[in-house]
Amino acid sequence: MADETRKATLIIGNENYDLPIYSPTEGPDVIDIRKLYGQAGVFTYDPGFTSTASCDSTITFIDGDEGVLTHRGYPIDQLASKSHYLEVCYLLLYGELPTAAELEKFEDTITHHTMIHEQMHNFFRGFRRDAHPMATMVGVVGAMSAFYHDSTDISDPHQREIASHRLIAKMPTIAAMAYKYSIGQPFVYPRNDLDYAANFLHMCFAVPAAEYVVDPILARAMDRIFTLHADHEQNASTSTVRLASSSGANPFACIAAGIACLWGPAHGGANQACLEMLKEIGSVDRIPEFIARAKDKNDPFRLMGFGHRVYKNFDPRAKVMKQSADEVLDLLGVENNPILQVAKELEKQALADPYFADKKLFPNVDFYSGIILEAMGFPTSMFTPVFAVSRTVGWISQWKEQLADPQMKIGRPRQLYRGHKQRDYRDIETR
Ligand code: CMC
Repeated sequence: MADETRKATLIIGNENYDLPIYSPTEGPDVIDIRKLYGQAGVFTYDPGFTSTASCDSTITFIDGDEGVLTHRGYPIDQLASKSHYLEVCYLLLYGELPTAAELEKFEDTITHHTMIHEQMHNFFRGFRRDAHPMATMVGVVGAMSAFYHDSTDISDPHQREIASHRLIAKMPTIAAMAYKYSIGQPFVYPRNDLDYAANFLHMCFAVPAAEYVVDPILARAMDRIFTLHADHEQNASTSTVRLASSSGANPFACIAAGIACLWGPAHGGANQACLEMLKEIGSVDRIPEFIARAKDKNDPFRLMGFGHRVYKNFDPRAKVMKQSADEVLDLLGVENNPILQVAKELEKQALADPYFADKKLFPNVDFYSGIILEAMGFPTSMFTPVFAVSRTVGWISQWKEQLADPQMKIGRPRQLYRGHKQRDYRDIETR
């Protein structure tokens, strides 16, 4: 809603342009520049969207200065300690915490959508065995639109709902199958008697030859990792999903686009990159060398798992993740894990260093998640697929919200063109 009493005035030459200001529930005011080009004939320039609100949303809020993250108003630390992943999925999708009956129905629906079309097994077999599981996931999730035609019509609310449930339910199955395929083990079918996180661990680590009992503490830690990554407002992969969806693309294609974007090391790929970095550092005595490299402008090296576009304070998810890392490693009897020791010492030394303090670089969620995942038995290549499983509900919730928004338009940024002015084609002999 525009605040009629306040307007931002932009002066270009002798002309004044009044721009409406919107007041959000929380966060900074927003200046509406949608009519600016029509009125003043100028564009705004904001590569990386550092000062641009790309949509109107009611799902997730981040106060980066205070280190606050809320979903539908509920703080992430409360959700991580008191709730669980599927309840958070319901909250993100429908806006309110479910009643007991609503939750039971939702969990039942998700549980009964976890199997994938049997023919998709053949599709997996087309990939090379050494494919990164994220490469397989991008392909398989995109291919879901070829297998589930009855939920690709975005104008039908019922189909939208089914597509949402299918994606949340099947993503762990697809990620686990991508992993099993990469290590040459048989696919493990989902089990309806296990909860979401336990079922995922079972599909990843069980083999037909032996019974595999999921440790409830590991299942709880897995559930917490899913919960902490469930949504994060308009990050790169979510914005990718929204942009893909703005053209009217089907939900499976949009989520495949989100997975592709998540893969990059500046985003979801950071958990893999962070653990690889901790291993490369290897021992605490080498930390100063790596900190020096991270500070060196001539060295492209960055401390992975450090820094965030929005958080200029502790990432609230990292605090919970650090505690989880201690619990899981303690349970597994590896509390003296050298990687954890390097991580803790690196965090300490970086936080005490004026370079990181001045630039407000703090550990982010990926700093500790890799340590937990590795202790659970996941190879580094599975870290980003786990993130993709968790984030699916966030992508879907934002996709649903966008489709319901009457102001939705195809996303079509403009540019600051600095190329050649128009010139005439020259025949090849004259060049
Ligand atoms: N190590 C060393 N220096 C850093 C780091 C880092 N991890 N992150 C930022 N800086 C410096 C950077 O060199 C720049 O310095 P200067 O102002 O002198 O040029 C300044 O801090 C600001 O960095 P930026 O790249 O302009 O900031 P950004 O908001 O565009 O980037 C980021 C945010 C997350 C991409 C970046 O901090 C980074 O590359 N971090 C490491 C990768 C990582 O952990 N990513 C996971 C993010 S959380 C999970 C997720 O969202 O998927």
